Amino acid sequence: MYNLLKGKRGIIFGALDENSIAWKTAERVHEEGGTFVLTNAPIAMRMGTIDVLAQKTGSQIIPADATSLEDLENLVDQAVEILGGKIDFVLHSIGMSVNVRKNINYTDNKYDFTQKGWDVSAVSFHKVMQVLYKKDAMSEWGSIIALTYMAAQRVFPDYNDMADNKAYLESIARSFGYFFGKDKKVRVNTISQSPTATTAGQGVKGFSGFIAYADKMSPLGNATAGECADYVVTMFSDLTKKVTLQNLYHDGGFSNMGVSQEVMEAFERGLEEEN
Ligand SMILES: NC(=O)c1ccc[n+]([C@@H]2O[C@H](COP(=O)([O-])OP(=O)(O)OC[C@H]3O[C@@H](n4cnc5c(N)ncnc54)[C@H](O)[C@@H]3O)[C@@H](O)[C@H]2O)c1
Repeated sequence: MYNLLKGKRGIIFGALDENSIAWKTAERVHEEGGTFVLTNAPIAMRMGTIDVLAQKTGSQIIPADATSLEDLENLVDQAVEILGGKIDFVLHSIGMSVNVRKNINYTDNKYDFTQKGWDVSAVSFHKVMQVLYKKDAMSEWGSIIALTYMAAQRVFPDYNDMADNKAYLESIARSFGYFFGKDKKVRVNTISQSPTATTAGQGVKGFSGFIAYADKMSPLGNATAGECADYVVTMFSDLTKKVTLQNLYHDGGFSNMGVSQEVMEAFERGLEEEN
């Protein structure tokens, strides 16, 4: 390991179980010498296994619903106190759509569900940054990252209203990132990750076909959660100080592909079988 995050302090949102991208990131940040508090929604404390991660990384857990400003204020105050100073890095690794959970087709979306998913998946990122900004809790040259998916740019029908939530999330990164950069010298970016077998990922209809297709389309294959964690570590490190307001693809090349040989061959085999 490289000690890339030695002396840096952070907050990691969204580690539910060992498959979570936030879980893998916490492990990698710990290996690189960073210290952090872990946080998740109170309900996730009961559903997941975050205690195991906290023990493993010597971290404290502070429950917070990322849609509640009160919870976030308490989280940031406690994090600064526990870690002994301002925050250098934040990972927002949160996503949830009630319409997806209830298997409601995009064209039938229920708007109270739409609003809830938007608040959890997108507006929570604004809330997190607003609390950090107002409390002046970020160190200069700190780094804030949220995770996103390419359905913000292109159509993936089963991704449902999460596509809209991700588009909004990416826009918040740019809009808030401007003020955080200008006023506090803090960088804000989103990382657009390959489909990954996690609780949130597997909630998307037809996920197994979807992940196999992306793997065959990408010249380097799908990026794993562990590889995403590596990328996040570089974005938290001092090696990427001038990267901000970006949506960064971490997807084995998928986002720039039209079609691949492997996908064409599989498609042609399917056509032959049909005839
Ligand atoms: N898995 C994929 O295929 C994939 C691909 C690209 C991007 N992403 C994004 O990566 C991020 C992490 O997801 P994951 O795949 O690791 O799945 P995950 O299910 O492990 O993580 C999602 C997390 O969001 C948390 N959460 C939900 N509601 C919350 C709330 N109100 N307050 C605080 N936390 C809340 C959950 O408890 C959970 O820990 C999400 O933003 C997701 O959209 C995932």
